[in-house]
Amino acid sequence: MNSPEWQKIEVLADRKYPVYLGTSLEELGAYLPALPEKVEHILIISHQKVLDLYGGRLMKGLGDYRVNLLVVPAGEAEKSLERLSQLTTAALGYGADRKTLVIALGGGVIGDLAGFFASVFMRGVRLIQVPTTLLAQVDSSIGGKVAVNHPAGKNILGAFHPPQAVWTDFTTLESLPWLEVENGLAESIKHALIADPGLFNFFETQVDSIKQRDPLIWRTMVTRSSSVKVKIVSQDEREQGIRGLLNLGHSFGHALETEMNYRGVTHGQGVSIGIVAAAHLAGAKGFISLAEVERIKQLLRNYGLPIAIPGQNPQALLQRMQADKKNQGGRKILILPQGIGNAVISQDCTDNEILAAWQQVISG
Ligand SMILES: NC(=O)c1ccc[n+]([C@@H]2O[C@H](COP(=O)([O-])OP(=O)(O)OC[C@H]3O[C@@H](n4cnc5c(N)ncnc54)[C@H](O)[C@@H]3O)[C@@H](O)[C@H]2O)c1
Repeated sequence: MNSPEWQKIEVLADRKYPVYLGTSLEELGAYLPALPEKVEHILIISHQKVLDLYGGRLMKGLGDYRVNLLVVPAGEAEKSLERLSQLTTAALGYGADRKTLVIALGGGVIGDLAGFFASVFMRGVRLIQVPTTLLAQVDSSIGGKVAVNHPAGKNILGAFHPPQAVWTDFTTLESLPWLEVENGLAESIKHALIADPGLFNFFETQVDSIKQRDPLIWRTMVTRSSSVKVKIVSQDEREQGIRGLLNLGHSFGHALETEMNYRGVTHGQGVSIGIVAAAHLAGAKGFISLAEVERIKQLLRNYGLPIAIPGQNPQALLQRMQADKKNQGGRKILILPQGIGNAVISQDCTDNEILAAWQQVISG
């Protein structure tokens, strides 16, 4: 591979697979002969906008293969059974079979939808994740979780379908709108907070370079952040334990997103508020110092992420948390930071403690 600096890290799960970081879209075709079984037919699943931006570069390397494009409209609503069925009809129309390789070119929505399609089409076909958003590069493309939504909830129908490889071209991030960058930053900061104090410090010291999208700084940020995800899923692919730490901020954040009907708050903003609420709760339990709580808030604030939600009702938010998928036997399972760069799964937070944490983010 000719890219100036690329790296391979491996997910050491049930089936080992590589995460290539800093490789280029054009080079993916040259990598395919390295897969254990020969590739002949490829289905690329993507959004029109992403294909317009990057489809040509990816196709450059795929001249030796029979390739069909399946275009999906953008938006979370497309992670649906209806879209899955349409993809299936189109794939059959193109003569897809059990040897077809699916390439998911896009953000987390494409990764989850194309990944779920790959997990069930003909009882499972091969998948390569080519993530093009920051969130997808540092988080959703790694770990094998794929899913579609159901009217009853997000990601209700899903599977573990690890890819053959994750192929990350950092240059695709140059066209990403800032609001989408924020979604990825919230997850990256979360990774730093749960497992990498050095990365947390990097975020603190590189604010301007990160905001200005300095390519070298972004390379370091994405590489370190995805390494956290790789390390965690390598230890616990099926989320029996430590993988749960990746949910830090999400129980609070998800409650806020549903309470606000997904309007006026992005996922990244929800996670940011959720991290602050978890930090307050951890502070109250003595897991982190008040100075550390302030450090976390300051870091999120520096990246323009919200740290307060004035006007919300704490009781209503607490109520929303009753429906969290992670709850067990009526007990809320929350992830709390323990210092900077470490986190714990807590099963003994009382409703009063949670309410107090909500009150702190509401009053700011
Ligand atoms: N499977 C997992 O482990 C996991 C983890 C976290 C999140 N997710 C899922 O990820 C989804 C969110 O993913 P997302 O934040 O990437 O959003 P997204 O996939 O909706 O992408 C956001 C927008 O950016 C556009 N886009 C993509 N790449 C671009 C580029 N390079 N330049 C310009 N525009 C580009 C897309 O077309 C889309 O409009 C959610 O459905 C969530 O459930 C899954």
